[in-house]
Amino acid sequence: MERLQKVIANRGYCSRRKAEEYIKEGKVFVNGNRVSELGLKVDENVEIRIDGKVLEKDEKVYILLNKPRGVVSTVKDEKMRKTVLDLIDTSVRVYPVGRLDYDTTGLLLLTNDGDLTNLLIHPKNRIDKVYVAKIAGILKGEEIRLLKQGVFIDGKKTSSSKVRVKSVDYKNGTSVVEIIIHEGKNHQVKKMFESVGHSVLKLKREKVAFLNLKGLHSGEYRYLNPKEVKKLYAFVKNN
Ligand code: URA
Repeated sequence: MERLQKVIANRGYCSRRKAEEYIKEGKVFVNGNRVSELGLKVDENVEIRIDGKVLEKDEKVYILLNKPRGVVSTVKDEKMRKTVLDLIDTSVRVYPVGRLDYDTTGLLLLTNDGDLTNLLIHPKNRIDKVYVAKIAGILKGEEIRLLKQGVFIDGKKTSSSKVRVKSVDYKNGTSVVEIIIHEGKNHQVKKMFESVGHSVLKLKREKVAFLNLKGLHSGEYRYLNPKEVKKLYAFVKNN
């Protein structure tokens, strides 16, 4: 027997804390009976309904995290550093879709839906990933052209990208550049800029497909709703 809020979280519907709120608001039904006080322990197999939706046991879960700096995006770290899973209150086993470096911030999806993960990370599906990089120096026209058409990193050419200089700080000799890529090679954005002679000082992923970070402060996350998941599948397949 487990606390009701834990069983709700286990099914990936929401976090444990959010489940407590739903219980107190009287939105939760266990085997058809409304439960509006905390403290009930239930069997893992009970039928749970919230807002008319039955929570399946093998529910797919989709989490959108605004990853802060100083956190690894693997599930385990051999150096025992903090991982993105430490930021998320869910007992469902979710995995990051691709990776962001330890010092990269921004949008990271986590899910237990392997099909969607594969569709999102496969370069052939050309899913836009929008990054904003603060780089050392000021890009020359020729460097922008090279970045756009593809540069060689680790002996392989990157596919075409979109590059837009957002601002230049002439005093400090830095620039802020938006770059949109479709692949996810290791340290790709940093290596792309390095290949044209500029180091990346800061990197943030602002968008993946149509998903953005609206409403999420650094370190915060939210669950995608079923409409967004459907849209994401449609987006990947029609892209
Ligand atoms: N490219 C990088 O260099 N680092 C990231 O974290 C993501 C893309």
